[in-house]
Amino acid sequence: MPLLNTHLVSVAQLRRTDLDRIFAVADRCLPIARGEETSDLLRGRLLANLFFEPSTRTRLSFGAAFMRLGGAVETTVGMQFSSMAKGETLEDTIRVIDGYADIMVLRHPDEGSAARAAAVSQHPIINGGDGPGEHPTQALLDLYAIAKERGSVDGVKVALIGDLKHGRTVHSLSRLLACFEGVELILTSPPSLAMPDKVLADLDAAGLRYRLVPTLADALAAADVAYVTRIQAERFDDPVAAARLISGFVVNLELLESIGRTDITILHPLPRYNDLSTDVDHLPGAAYFRQSHLGVPVRMAIFCEILGKELA
Ligand code: NCD
Repeated sequence: MPLLNTHLVSVAQLRRTDLDRIFAVADRCLPIARGEETSDLLRGRLLANLFFEPSTRTRLSFGAAFMRLGGAVETTVGMQFSSMAKGETLEDTIRVIDGYADIMVLRHPDEGSAARAAAVSQHPIINGGDGPGEHPTQALLDLYAIAKERGSVDGVKVALIGDLKHGRTVHSLSRLLACFEGVELILTSPPSLAMPDKVLADLDAAGLRYRLVPTLADALAAADVAYVTRIQAERFDDPVAAARLISGFVVNLELLESIGRTDITILHPLPRYNDLSTDVDHLPGAAYFRQSHLGVPVRMAIFCEILGKELA
């Protein structure tokens, strides 16, 4: 169990066997995640949910996962309500909370913050998004969603669409896709928001086949799965100008109909903004809300792996 009592900071820690086991445990967790069964596996355990950047799904699904397994959750939201507003360092904050909780989830605007927290924490730290860096648990639930929607991740053709430069979900997801057989990756973004070279270097090293496709229609035509992302406007000096960069990369019904691809599987980490039209919501392949619900069983499985707990 490579995750036992360790931090989960980067997808670089995960191998195919880890993914297969996490998904098998997530399958077992599904009825508990849905409230059809109850569990007290984590009774007496405390999760500290430390969210220093906006979040809805990640924070609440980590909390739901821990509580559905019988544990308790404490949450802090936003820098302005924490001692960081008084100038406390991240390291000092973590050293303190280390004495309150058994495990922590950290979301923070700085790339590398999860690794910094892990370096000073006795208890496991889970990276819930470190600025434009990584978002490993989102990538795990994205893969789980692909497997559920398509039957398997092996052999799938995935188009990553939107702000590939700042989108931490696509940084983690593309690297994890390299663990599977026969995957083809199609990258399509505004030219100034291309996938960072360091991510491409990791994909090259892992032998993942990928190609850069300049137009959205060509990318969608070639893909089984469209993974749509929003412009990460909070990472720009001018968020309004940033939001305009999406023009030409908006997935909507008119476009899908014009290329005969209303059958495509559509995923999105959410929140969507102006990148994915609500006029595709009725399509059978519009899977983003189902995908978001899978965050609970996948995060339950991650807690089980890290805390060394096994469901009967
Ligand atoms: C993503 C994130 O925070 O990186 N959201 C999420 O966790 N589901 C995507 C985003 O904010 O665009």
